[in-house]
Amino acid sequence: MSNEQSGQGKGSGPDLFKKGEEIQAMRENMAGIRNVMIILSGKGGVGKSTMSVNLATALALEGYKVGLLDIDFHGPTVPTMLGLVGQSALQGENEKIRPVVTEWGLKVISLGFFLRNQDDAVIWRGPMKTGVIKQLLREVDWGELDYLLIDCPPGTGDEPLSIIQMVEGEKAAVVVTAPQEVSLAAVRKSVSFCRSMDLPILGIVENMSGYLCPYCEKISDPVKKNSTEELAKKENIPFLGKIPILMDIISSGDKGQPIALQQEHRAGTIFLEMARELAGRMPGWEGVPADKGKA
Ligand SMILES: Nc1ncnc2c1ncn2[C@@H]1O[C@H](COP(=O)(O)OP(=O)(O)OP(=O)(O)O)[C@@H](O)[C@H]1O
Ligand SMILES: [Mg+2]
Repeated sequence: MSNEQSGQGKGSGPDLFKKGEEIQAMRENMAGIRNVMIILSGKGGVGKSTMSVNLATALALEGYKVGLLDIDFHGPTVPTMLGLVGQSALQGENEKIRPVVTEWGLKVISLGFFLRNQDDAVIWRGPMKTGVIKQLLREVDWGELDYLLIDCPPGTGDEPLSIIQMVEGEKAAVVVTAPQEVSLAAVRKSVSFCRSMDLPILGIVENMSGYLCPYCEKISDPVKKNSTEELAKKENIPFLGKIPILMDIISSGDKGQPIALQQEHRAGTIFLEMARELAGRMPGWEGVPADKGKA
């Protein structure tokens, strides 16, 4: 008997029942995750994925149990930035999807792991994307995590919306921007988006802020504006700092070895300090990694 014949899927009763079951399944599956950080920006190309892989790496090196979920359907770059191109997320013994794990213990799920070919274009409408996000929240076997970072595509579309609506518990946003006026306009949108969704903002980062010369170690800054800082102040949001344009950030991302792995490197230090600050800022977080917290 089809759903329509049986009356299932029609009217609010069975649909609501199904929704309740789905929510319960997601809740149970994510019960081991203590904090969720959603990395977003109103604008493309400002460094969300760079931020996500480096913050996640820095937190993992700090001894936290960390996961990274890349929900960029149209341009998943996380596999490249973590040297995981060609890897697939397989089904584990419990029939759940097993994340790919980096050498430094970061658990990763990217939509890129499910594409047959890296160059395949994904042509999906909103409801299909929402369906996949739901499935990932229900079926990825994250186990115990101190932090799950979620790398969003640019804008305030279906993906961040679904994530914010569907993930329960302690969650907050990190907003990434660049110093140009156009990026600032986009960041205002991100802030109002988070506010309208009741999502706390842990802070705003200004990426690609000035150019750090690898030879003289000086920063030249043709834009020279403190607009992001001013905006953060005006909106009463913590300003997390500036990250300069640095060739090593590009090459490390292209090589799949995040710069955060080099903790003595200037950029590595910046990401480490930012990660430490963010870690302590999660609402409701007592600041002790899951394993160290146990008696
Ligand atoms: N501080 C930086 N210095 C130099 N290059 C950077 C810096 N931050 C990011 N990049 C480079 O800029 C490019 C875009 O960065 P990234 O992919 O992280 O942006 P994104 O916001 O995730 O983009 P999208 O909106 O397409 O998802 C990458 O090649 C990355 O290496
Ligand atoms: Mg990205």
